[in-house]
Amino acid sequence: LQASTQPQLLADKRILITAGPTHEAIDPVRAITNHSSGKMGYSIARAAIEMGAEVTLVSGPVALQAPAAARTVHVTSAQEMLAAVESNIKGQDIFISVAAVADYRPQTASVHKIKKSTAPLTLTLASNPDILATIAARADAPFCVGFAAESENLLAHAEEKRRRKQLPLIAANIASESLGQDESSLVLLDDQGSHLLPQAPKLTLARGLLQHIAAMLDHPIT
Ligand code: CTP
Ligand code: CA
Repeated sequence: LQASTQPQLLADKRILITAGPTHEAIDPVRAITNHSSGKMGYSIARAAIEMGAEVTLVSGPVALQAPAAARTVHVTSAQEMLAAVESNIKGQDIFISVAAVADYRPQTASVHKIKKSTAPLTLTLASNPDILATIAARADAPFCVGFAAESENLLAHAEEKRRRKQLPLIAANIASESLGQDESSLVLLDDQGSHLLPQAPKLTLARGLLQHIAAMLDHPIT
């Protein structure tokens, strides 16, 4: 199906999506980050727009063009991403947390460039807020969807995350098979069990994920 002919499964739905990595400053020229191209999150934004949703995209630093129809907020750090999500969450129906948020940041960023020496350099890291867990715990939480990129024990780790963060749905994949790639596969985990979206372009996976979400919203488990 072409974009123009996608069923309008998400008409009138408001969706907030985070995408890409975060950068946590060490000094003015260096940062700690995670590998993430933003392709999956941006594909979900595109697919949601095709299906009639009103999309807000909170994006870390990526080399991608944001869909023109999305309201896009660009951020750098995890703390900035949390602030942008919190100030846009009211009235959202769905939150899809695709961003590869850095779990730690340097406790203090050096104002000036740190000069190299041959001695080991020790950085003290502070833990970053968990954006998805923070939103999912709100009394007015929208339908929250997580992502889990794992290197091993995919289903066990992903299901543990889904339960820990109290999510109705999590999408899991093997990190090395997805990072930076145009194609991947996804396993969707919900209270009913698991559902495989086989190897396909990320836009196809995004449509499959959003169809699954639309079906869950149409048929809530009571
Ligand atoms: N996430 C988030 N904020 C964080 C860390 C993660 O919102 N500070 C979200 C991610 O966007 C993803 C989900 O939580 O949707 C799982 O992220 P992941 O890094 O796989 O899980 P963690 O809980 O951080 O556990 P770990 O890194 O130890 O596997
Ligand atoms: Ca993490």
